[in-house]
Amino acid sequence: MTTPPAAGTRAGGPAAAGLPVLYVIACAAPPAAEVGELAGQAQRRGWDVCVLTTPAGRRFTDVAALERLTGHPVRSEYKNPGEPDVLPPADAIIVAPATVNTINKWAAGICDTLALGILVEAFGKRLPVVALPSTNHAHAAHPVFTENIGKLRSWGVTVLFGGGVPALPEPDAGGADLDQFPWSATLDALGASLPRAVAD
Ligand SMILES: Cc1cc2nc3c(=O)[nH]c(=O)nc-3n(C[C@H](O)[C@H](O)[C@H](O)COP(=O)(O)O)c2cc1C
Repeated sequence: MTTPPAAGTRAGGPAAAGLPVLYVIACAAPPAAEVGELAGQAQRRGWDVCVLTTPAGRRFTDVAALERLTGHPVRSEYKNPGEPDVLPPADAIIVAPATVNTINKWAAGICDTLALGILVEAFGKRLPVVALPSTNHAHAAHPVFTENIGKLRSWGVTVLFGGGVPALPEPDAGGADLDQFPWSATLDALGASLPRAVAD
């Protein structure tokens, strides 16, 4: 399911103290099963990675493998009142795979999942955010989805969508080819939008 870090790289957790923190948010779409690939690539680029999922997205991931890889708990729900934060604050966020559902709710300012709460707050915190939707032709054709991608872009979010990226399968065609999901494009795009202090 998830890919371990390449030989010679370190896992996250205490060893990652002092590194910039990247939140990787995985929504409920098939590429979430491979989100460890993105986490591993980000670690090799010098990030302390925390993986979060939407509540529905959690079922698509191997939570134990992601926790071993990153050294951080995989959070999917809001904490209870009075409980401390268990993750370090984010310096940047990647949402991949981003569902049609989460894109639409995010653009509307809805915060009914922890992931959405973090994404809605990211505007006020001025965090760089990159989103890579995963969907099919029919799902993506809803006019509100296109409209909301435009809104998010106009507000400073980098949304990697269009021109064949990612490749969109036909509905009921068995989903996208997970090997072709362009995880590294999210990190490339983030590099271009990082504040100087984090990029250094
Ligand atoms: C097997 C399966 C595959 C799915 N694939 C996608 C997908 O590729 N893109 C998408 O936007 N929704 C997909 N969905 C629907 C989402 O899981 C659903 O809209 C869910 O409510 C999204 O929740 P979230 O946005 O909180 O992660 C899929 C659902 C299932 C059960």
